[in-house]
Amino acid sequence: MALPWALAVLSLLPLLEARSLGCANFTAAPMTNATLDRISGKWFYIAGASHNPEYLEFMKTYQASYFYCDANHTEDTIQLREYSTIGNKCVYNFSILTVQRENGTITTNEMGREHIGHVWFTKDPSIILFVYFPDDKQKIALFFCADKANVTEEQMSEFHEAIVCVGMDKSEIMYTDEKQDQCGPLEKQHEEERKKKQEEA
Ligand SMILES: *[C@@H]1O[C@H](CO)[C@@H](O)[C@H](O)[C@H]1NC(C)=O
Ligand SMILES: *[C@@H]1O[C@H](CO)[C@@H](O)[C@H](O)[C@H]1NC(C)=O
Ligand SMILES: *[C@@H]1O[C@H](CO)[C@@H](O)[C@H](O)[C@H]1NC(C)=O
Ligand SMILES: *[C@@H]1O[C@H](CO)[C@@H](O)[C@H](O)[C@H]1NC(C)=O
Ligand SMILES: *[C@@H]1O[C@H](CO)[C@@H](O)[C@H](O)[C@H]1NC(C)=O
Ligand SMILES: *[C@@H]1O[C@H](CO)[C@@H](O)[C@H](O)[C@H]1NC(C)=O
Repeated sequence: MALPWALAVLSLLPLLEARSLGCANFTAAPMTNATLDRISGKWFYIAGASHNPEYLEFMKTYQASYFYCDANHTEDTIQLREYSTIGNKCVYNFSILTVQRENGTITTNEMGREHIGHVWFTKDPSIILFVYFPDDKQKIALFFCADKANVTEEQMSEFHEAIVCVGMDKSEIMYTDEKQDQCGPLEKQHEEERKKKQEEA
């Protein structure tokens, strides 16, 4: 009688082990100057999933989004310039995030509250995951970002792994579509303004 049970447990074991091994890599590590440099640059928001109604609403409105991070090692801040397409319009936002190095987190003040994002790196330096409420199944939110708008299958499967690790389902993922981007002209204008300023300086 014990045999079917034992077999079931045995066949589950490798699965469980594989899962916990892979998931061990999805955690926030303390931030260093090197990881701050890794965050700096242009990123595309590719996809996200959330159990937090507030974040979910927000994700649903995003047709496309990319952003520039500019980390300051001495102040432990990140200047964030976001270009999001919402309702077929470009919405630009500038904000300053503070870095909690020891926790591997970044904090923004939006809608009158603090939002703490845990930064998860993978072995692929071209992708970053931002995770909110990683320990709360009712509120968890995952944002998947990459340095290109078109990610590879391997990069997408890393994100899918992370989704499964945190107990969400792939069907919950909402994808953006770079083709719907309306921010190109504004980004170009900002670039030209910056160049002009540098030339003047
Ligand atoms: C976890 O990360 C380590 C170090 O980057 C890497 O060698 C290993 O392959 C990763 N494991 C998985 C399952 O991705
Ligand atoms: C970092 O911030 C300090 C203080 O505001 C400023 O003096 C410095 O130029 C900044 N560094 C960079 C790389 O922006
Ligand atoms: C990080 O960068 C800052 C500013 O460049 C420097 O003062 C500090 O010593 C660096 N920290 C490490 C651990 O290298
Ligand atoms: C780091 O995390 C701990 C535990 O959640 C928290 O008590 C602490 O305030 C955090 N540190 C910073 C600088 O946010
Ligand atoms: C832009 O920033 C404001 C103020 O921080 C915030 O209320 C708003 O939700 C942001 N919009 C986007 C699209 O990020
Ligand atoms: C992504 O787009 C770039 C430029 O359009 C192209 O060179 C590259 O091959 C594409 N990569 C993938 C994985 O589709």
